Amino acid sequence: MTPTAQLTAARPAFQRALHTWYHRHQRRLPWRATPSLYKTVVSEFMLQQTQVTTVLPYFDRWMSTLPDFAALAAAPESRVLKLWEGLGYYSRARNLRRLAQALVGMPAPPRTPAAWRELPGVGPYTAAAITSIAFGEPAACVDGNVVRILARLTGEGQRFRDASAAAKYFTPLADRLITGSNPGGHNQAMMELGATVCTRRSPKCTSCPVAEFCAAKRSGTPEKFPRLQPKRIEQRSVARAWCVHRGRLLLRRGHVKARRLAGLHELPELADLGVKPATHSLLAVKCRTITRFQITELIHAVKPSPALWRRIATNESLEWIALDDFEQVTLSGPHRRWVGELLGW
Ligand code: ADE
Repeated sequence: MTPTAQLTAARPAFQRALHTWYHRHQRRLPWRATPSLYKTVVSEFMLQQTQVTTVLPYFDRWMSTLPDFAALAAAPESRVLKLWEGLGYYSRARNLRRLAQALVGMPAPPRTPAAWRELPGVGPYTAAAITSIAFGEPAACVDGNVVRILARLTGEGQRFRDASAAAKYFTPLADRLITGSNPGGHNQAMMELGATVCTRRSPKCTSCPVAEFCAAKRSGTPEKFPRLQPKRIEQRSVARAWCVHRGRLLLRRGHVKARRLAGLHELPELADLGVKPATHSLLAVKCRTITRFQITELIHAVKPSPALWRRIATNESLEWIALDDFEQVTLSGPHRRWVGELLGW
């Protein structure tokens, strides 16, 4: 028998071990305490590519400001983005608001993963998470955590092109391991195991509830699974302007059509101002990573000149923001941090 067939055959014992462990060891999280469809949807959107500890304060603030779908649907986008400020991947916030608007127009929320996937921002993982937790649909969630667990359980040695190829490969097995008995608990138990025990580096096999089913543990080198082709990292550099005049800072507002930055402010690029890096002094160098891009941000001190004033006046996306009003605008997390540092706040 292949390891996959063995695991599938052992499903009842596997589930029992996993669910008993989850019942005892799960973290007390606010969306788990008194669950509702709204809490499930908001938490799943926030948790896409973001860790639980980062999400916690955002989730609490969100729930006390926008307590249900109706409140979210009626909120201006700028307010929703402000609540999301610093969490990153802002299209999630815009999609969540559009999803709420779609739901409040329906006689009842959909219940199947396929129907949820028609809604804004809902991919296969989120559709499975929401419908299993809120409606008991036996749909398996497969993300990086679950791929890691399944690759280790089966000792799968093939090398995957990327995370999504691996997720596709393991989805049939994940579907065979889930049943109609508490599928939401099963999915959350898998997530919990991946986040707290079957971690990428140094997995804690001695406290793993399903170690007896694990081929990678028997191999002695569980951390070698899954085998993923390394991501190709691309280096980019961006020259930015730091332009302060009479208590106001020059920012650029992301255009409504700019997918990533719509509604967000950031320091303008030198190109927006038509100036060259060589003529301005370098004030700070910041590095950050967005998806597969490693970006070096070079922030230059720019003094407003008559030509520059004309450019600023004719570029609608450039805006002077009074430093006293700075809390009102929404910046991405890194930009807010840099501005704070450069102002000595
Ligand atoms: N990651 C994604 N969904 C999650 C959930 N419901 N609990 C913990 N981590 C998660």
